[in-house]
Amino acid sequence: MKKDLSNIKKAKYLLDKNHCVAIPTETVYGLAANAYSDTAILKIFKLKKRPKSNPLIVHYCKAEDIKNDCELNSSFIKLYNKFCPGPLTFILKLKKNSKISKYVTNGKKTLAVRFPKNLKTEKLLKSLNYPLAAPSANIYTQISPVSKKDVKDEFGKKIKFILDGGSSRVGLESTIINLVNKAEILRLGGIEINKISKVLKKKLKYNRSKNKIQVPGQSNFHYSPGIPIRLNAKKQFSDEAFILIQKRKRFDKNYFYLTKNKNLKEAGKNLYNTLRKIKNLKFKKIAIEKIPNIGMGLAINDRLKRASKR
Ligand code: TXA
Ligand code: MG
Repeated sequence: MKKDLSNIKKAKYLLDKNHCVAIPTETVYGLAANAYSDTAILKIFKLKKRPKSNPLIVHYCKAEDIKNDCELNSSFIKLYNKFCPGPLTFILKLKKNSKISKYVTNGKKTLAVRFPKNLKTEKLLKSLNYPLAAPSANIYTQISPVSKKDVKDEFGKKIKFILDGGSSRVGLESTIINLVNKAEILRLGGIEINKISKVLKKKLKYNRSKNKIQVPGQSNFHYSPGIPIRLNAKKQFSDEAFILIQKRKRFDKNYFYLTKNKNLKEAGKNLYNTLRKIKNLKFKKIAIEKIPNIGMGLAINDRLKRASKR
């Protein structure tokens, strides 16, 4: 407990000095910095090697904390009450007098906000007098990190401090919903579309091609382990690591289970660490069994499609 507190203090100390710190969230680990500081935000882009045209998500503790930065609306309040803190990101109208760094939004008039569910990160956010901009803590286009070890794997000593909050419980990035004008889903993720539709009492669509324009970072070649991935595979070739979602009778040392009983939530949680494991074992190719396109399977398939584009 004491150690936790001193780690949160250390993170705060570094963030107050405009350094980047990796923070745990329920989706993936984030590379965080003061969202009100140009100096701090530019460090994120540099460390991640991310193009500045790709805007960042800003993390807050509670709904009332966003009031100075963006405009709330009734859909936001309904979804916030149901799902937050949790894996949902809202695109809202940026307020003119907001202190958010222009590098966070790439000069856009909208802001992505999120309320992560992780005790340490929530405590850290509470202790700060600014929100934290944080993209996933990986080098641009690489696999997102779901533990302290993964962040180390990505950045080595280049990052000053990683706040350890255990392994991420959801394991896939947040769902992004645009609430400026008509509600639409911009990224599939930790909360299923039909659950959001139920709260808003309307059908929501996920439009990937539209999304490409609005969310540049969501275009192809993301989440990549850097080796070819063959989707919907029934069998494996001898040089492939084979990713499975249901138990096979035969034992093979090149089998990697996301789940043994088609539990798609469990599969989502294990996706990135399995891809990273296979990459680190130096396999040259990956085959993956068909994942049903329902529930969390939608988000998993979305990530796999992007990861398999080379
Ligand atoms: O689960 C998550 O959302 C994780 C954790 C760390 O919170 N963060 C994350 O950030 O996935 P990142 O930077 O890897 O992805 C954020 C996405 C990008 O594709 C970006 O283009 C989009 O959000 N985005 C940010 N601001 C936006 C805006 N104003 N309008 C539309 N899309 C935006
Ligand atoms: Mg990312």
